[in-house]
Amino acid sequence: MPVAQTSQISDSPSLQVLPTGGALGAEICGVDLARPLSPDTIQQIHRALLNHYVLFFRRQHISEEEQVRFTAYFGTPVEHVREQPDRAIKEIFLISNIVANGKPIGALGNDELTFHSDLSYLPQPGRISMLYAVELPRVGGETQWCNCHAAYEALDEAMKARLRGLRAIHRHPIARQNHPVTVTQPLIRTHPETGQKALFISPQFTRAIVGLDLDESDELLMFLFAHMTQPQFVWTHDWQLGDLVMWDNRPTMHRRATFPATERRLLKRTQIFNDETPYE
Ligand code: OGA
Ligand code: MN
Repeated sequence: MPVAQTSQISDSPSLQVLPTGGALGAEICGVDLARPLSPDTIQQIHRALLNHYVLFFRRQHISEEEQVRFTAYFGTPVEHVREQPDRAIKEIFLISNIVANGKPIGALGNDELTFHSDLSYLPQPGRISMLYAVELPRVGGETQWCNCHAAYEALDEAMKARLRGLRAIHRHPIARQNHPVTVTQPLIRTHPETGQKALFISPQFTRAIVGLDLDESDELLMFLFAHMTQPQFVWTHDWQLGDLVMWDNRPTMHRRATFPATERRLLKRTQIFNDETPYE
């Protein structure tokens, strides 16, 4: 006999998707991430992510285990064993400028982070990332996302034709973070779930276009970076405590504004294991 309906875990009949009205992004209301979600709710969130690229959930009160459980609905959370001191929940990576007992408790400090797509310097880059806001500075530290699909679509046909088939070298500025073999990625990336094409380059990690001389490569990259970061393709998230933001790294890049070193900022990050090789 089938198990009765009473065993059904919390559904979210009140789930609402509220688009930001900007370049991308939507707020998801009516979902409590501290509770297990039903397959139907997870599917609605997944669909919203494919439509809006960045989703945020306000006023969440979640433990590290609950954040990892939510992340796992969309893939396998990465374990960050190498870069941070021992922590009980290894899938949580601290993004913070806080120093305790003379040691940074997390990564990325308080400087500006220029636009990037997570882990694009690896052969299989990041797919989905999530940040949960625990402590926030009084000023600065906003995160912005760029709609790289809309930016691609807005190029003229001659430029699209020029970019077709090109690949670019992606490198992390910290040498030891890189893959042993030089990593190249297609300039135009096709999203495996939607078929949409997006520019897949970033000021932070893209160094040069393969097969062009350096001047031509620099000129083309500068043109594309300026094009992509026009205001109509960029959306800014103003953080509130308790925000959980999740984003799809495949059609987007993101940057973080600087904030004063005297302010504390702590976000807990989870990322989905990289299992996709980008293709045009
Ligand atoms: C990241 C990142 C931005 C931020 O964690 O990958 O880019 O706002 N963080 O801290
Ligand atoms: Mn990032």
